[in-house]
Amino acid sequence: MTRILITGGAGFIGSNFVHLINKKYPSYEIVVVDKLNSQGRKENLADIIDSIEFHQFDLVEEDKLRALFENGGFEYVVHLAAESNVDRSIEDPDAFVSSNVTATNILLRLSKEFGVQRFHHVSTDEVFGELELDQDTKFNEETPYDPRSPYSATKAASDHLVRAYFATYGLNTTISNCSNNYGPYQVPENIVPLFALFALSGKDLTIYGDGKSVRDYLFVEDHCAAIDLILHNGKAGETYCVGGGAEKNGIEIADAILASVPETSSEKKFVADRPGHDRRYAIDHSKLMRELGYKPSVTFEQGLEKTVKWYRDNHWWWEPIMADLYVPDFLKN
Ligand SMILES: NC(=O)c1ccc[n+]([C@@H]2O[C@H](COP(=O)([O-])OP(=O)(O)OC[C@H]3O[C@@H](n4cnc5c(N)ncnc54)[C@H](O)[C@@H]3O)[C@@H](O)[C@H]2O)c1
Repeated sequence: MTRILITGGAGFIGSNFVHLINKKYPSYEIVVVDKLNSQGRKENLADIIDSIEFHQFDLVEEDKLRALFENGGFEYVVHLAAESNVDRSIEDPDAFVSSNVTATNILLRLSKEFGVQRFHHVSTDEVFGELELDQDTKFNEETPYDPRSPYSATKAASDHLVRAYFATYGLNTTISNCSNNYGPYQVPENIVPLFALFALSGKDLTIYGDGKSVRDYLFVEDHCAAIDLILHNGKAGETYCVGGGAEKNGIEIADAILASVPETSSEKKFVADRPGHDRRYAIDHSKLMRELGYKPSVTFEQGLEKTVKWYRDNHWWWEPIMADLYVPDFLKN
């Protein structure tokens, strides 16, 4: 029996990945660890909860994590758990050091000790810093690290730890650095679900700053398919960039969402900008295409249509969150 440990499996990308593995590899024994912070939701796994093993605890609780490793070896570890919200990292960097750096080190150490055969670390393109709007370049696997927020700094640190475990101890590791994901099960702390839910509930779409900061948008199911490819076929010690091939700014996202909810009374509303807001991210995923056959399965328009439909069909999932929506400090002043 192949045992796979998926950390952060109740989060947005993690729960989509658990669904993919459960469907594609029915013989795998899936173990999920998630502390269920404000973005983690056990409801994300409700339909498959009986076919997985779910544990709620913080990865820094080493004794609990060790007990899971002692219960039976893991062939695969896929590490998605992280504090992931840039705005929250500006308010409380300590929580990000604990979850993104300390927890990653503990997980790597136990993976080494218990002979994990492949450790895949899910990271972000934000470790590369920012590009200028008029620059015609993209991030790739050779781009030097230049993180700018506490979130990206702690993700960069975790990437370096993963590389160190490969170089120093020979742990079989891979890393993926991906762009902005969107899709089902994403809490409205990111632009696509926030704007979709604002549009569906008649609230104005709050665009940061001048709305011209650009991100590359990746449909979460394509990202999960890429993680699956790298986990099973990637080369040890390698890094792979994953993008969606869809560069959009905030205004374009707002317009696309307003068009996909034609009945809405919502309008665009410009608000304060995030401190240190990176101007542009763009990602070149040609290595992943060339070496492992990756190709995004949807265009941005198709992915957005699927996403908006999912939110339309799943009021039960998002209504409780909208009642207590997170608002970053810089928007309160
Ligand atoms: N969402 C994106 O666009 C994006 C882009 C690039 C990279 N990533 C990376 O992908 C991964 C998943 O992101 P996401 O968007 O699904 O985030 P998310 O916040 O939705 O999910 C993260 C999950 O990890 C859990 N978690 C956090 N700290 C933990 C800890 N110490 N112990 C146990 N569980 C813990 C949370 O409870 C949550 O369920 C993260 O590593 C993130 O850095 C995300």
